[in-house]
Amino acid sequence: MAKVRKLDEATIALIAAGEVVEGPWSVVKELTENSLDAGAGRVDVSVDGGGFKEIKVTDDGCGMGEEDLALAFERYATSKVAGPEDLDAVATLGFRGEALPAIAAVSRVTVYTRAEDEPTGLKAEVAAGTVAVSREGAPPGTTVIVRDLFYNVPVRRKFAGRPASEWRRAAEAFKRLALARLAPAFSLTKDRRLQYTTSADATARQRVGEVLGWELLDQLIPVAAQRGDFSLEAYLSPASASYGTTGNIYTVVNGRPARAKPVFKGVMSAYDGRLERGRYPLVVLYLDVPAEAVDVNVHPRKEEVRFADGAAAFEFVSRALREELARVGVVVPSTTFEMPSRKAPSGSPEVTAAIRESVQGYLKRHGLWPEGMFGGVGSGEVKAEAAAAPAGVAVAERSPDGGSVEVLGQLDNTYVIVRRGGDLVVVDQHTAHERVIYDRLARAAGDAGRQELLMPVTVSLGAAAAADLRPCLQALNDLGFGVEEFGGDAFVLRGHPNDVRVGDVEKFLARVVTDFVEEGRPAELERRRESVLKGVACHGAVKAGERLEHAEMAALVRDLFASPSPDVCPHGRPTMVNLAARDLARLFRR
Ligand SMILES: Nc1ncnc2c1ncn2[C@@H]1O[C@H](COP(=O)(O)OP(=O)(O)OP(=O)(O)O)[C@@H](O)[C@H]1O
Ligand SMILES: [Mg+2]
Repeated sequence: MAKVRKLDEATIALIAAGEVVEGPWSVVKELTENSLDAGAGRVDVSVDGGGFKEIKVTDDGCGMGEEDLALAFERYATSKVAGPEDLDAVATLGFRGEALPAIAAVSRVTVYTRAEDEPTGLKAEVAAGTVAVSREGAPPGTTVIVRDLFYNVPVRRKFAGRPASEWRRAAEAFKRLALARLAPAFSLTKDRRLQYTTSADATARQRVGEVLGWELLDQLIPVAAQRGDFSLEAYLSPASASYGTTGNIYTVVNGRPARAKPVFKGVMSAYDGRLERGRYPLVVLYLDVPAEAVDVNVHPRKEEVRFADGAAAFEFVSRALREELARVGVVVPSTTFEMPSRKAPSGSPEVTAAIRESVQGYLKRHGLWPEGMFGGVGSGEVKAEAAAAPAGVAVAERSPDGGSVEVLGQLDNTYVIVRRGGDLVVVDQHTAHERVIYDRLARAAGDAGRQELLMPVTVSLGAAAAADLRPCLQALNDLGFGVEEFGGDAFVLRGHPNDVRVGDVEKFLARVVTDFVEEGRPAELERRRESVLKGVACHGAVKAGERLEHAEMAALVRDLFASPSPDVCPHGRPTMVNLAARDLARLFRR
């Protein structure tokens, strides 16, 4: 017969510790949080042997008196929350009174502390549930030393990672706090070697540079926004740099390093259409909202917060970041070169010829000049298309930044070679066309102009594909397609938006459906539209290997440069490579 028993204190403590102390990183996080809550102006953290040997955190905060010290190691003992009403607006990082007892349940802890108004310090040694306090000289503030983590729970030790990987996680936990709190000076030491220090009273920008590296900071796009009592400051990686994990998204809500679903979604939605599927940006985001707008008491390790109005938080973050990314997206990179159009008539034959010759000469000398470049009929000679259609007449276009743009030719039936001002730009015709179609259809909302088929095409898809196509029909027709069910698993296509190359109708529809399925068959109308739109842009775009007429290339390049996000296709692949005039000069050691 089953027998229900009350657990003894020691077992309860161990179970609770399992929740709070996942590994050395949790200890680093909890002790650093306590130092910050104590109002420290400096926090020094050191980690030895991956944190299993020793973790030591020293601060110059308020310290503890004798009573506090004894209580600190009891469960649910905290100085930070007095009653339920305090939980509605917690300003400190800690509020449960769980961390120190949990850590002490699975390690050997020594504390040195001295409260501001005390003449002498105290020492506490805590092991196996007993606290021994004695008087001891100590500077104002607190030092907590945690040794032999998991010594009494060998299973936990066995399943923990190796010291090297545990160290990385601990350093990451530290980094999140150092990014979140700008006032204190921090330092991090590993196996007695100082890793880095930060300055006190830093600006967000400064702290991002100190913690993530100044070189990286140079690449990041700063954003600041405010609406009502919501405000944010953020540093964003450009769409051209992305990562395979979400680990570089640092969100700080009211000074608390914490995840929040609407904030994460807001960030990702700002990058929508700019990053490939499964790729993530690097973002440091400081979000400040009224304390009562967030609930911090929703996660056992305080890693997550919940918003009272998630939609408002999502909206705010998404809009602010998206606007800035779009704005930066129009700035054509590398515009430091003085546009030759100012000295010579735009796209003048001399300028064109000079650039073409120098590039061609360089490529030839380095054996990089492929057969069939610029026109690709295999002669190995330049089939000077740009010259054949007189430069500056039919082919010169103006880019949005005022520099002249000229199509020089097609390489390998895949890339369009363009002169833009003094820069040489290699455009990927497929991804570029994808971007152009995407922008046009998204903007036109069904009015992009439709090409009716003389003979409607009827196709029969398999039952599964047909079932997946049905929910996409509305979105397709909204985009300017004319596609209907034709009984059974058959569909008929009567027309499609101008500029979309449908080709083999059956294959085209099947591919759009496959993308839709891969996106997880979104049910929400907006996301379904987005998926179908991306699919149409991708599968309706010119492919690599197709020969393009000069006028087609000129139109493609003109439309691409007019896009608000010309650098990447809707899946995030690059559309062009820019060889700036100054890069060319460098190559030629000018
Ligand atoms: N470095 C420190 N300086 C001063 N007081 C401290 C320090 N560390 C802990 N304390 C005191 O010990 C108490 C218990 O700390 P503990 O981390 O266990 O709980 P908490 O911070 O209140 O809540 P949480 O479990 O959410 O972290 C704190 O409320 C605080 O009063
Ligand atoms: Mg705490």
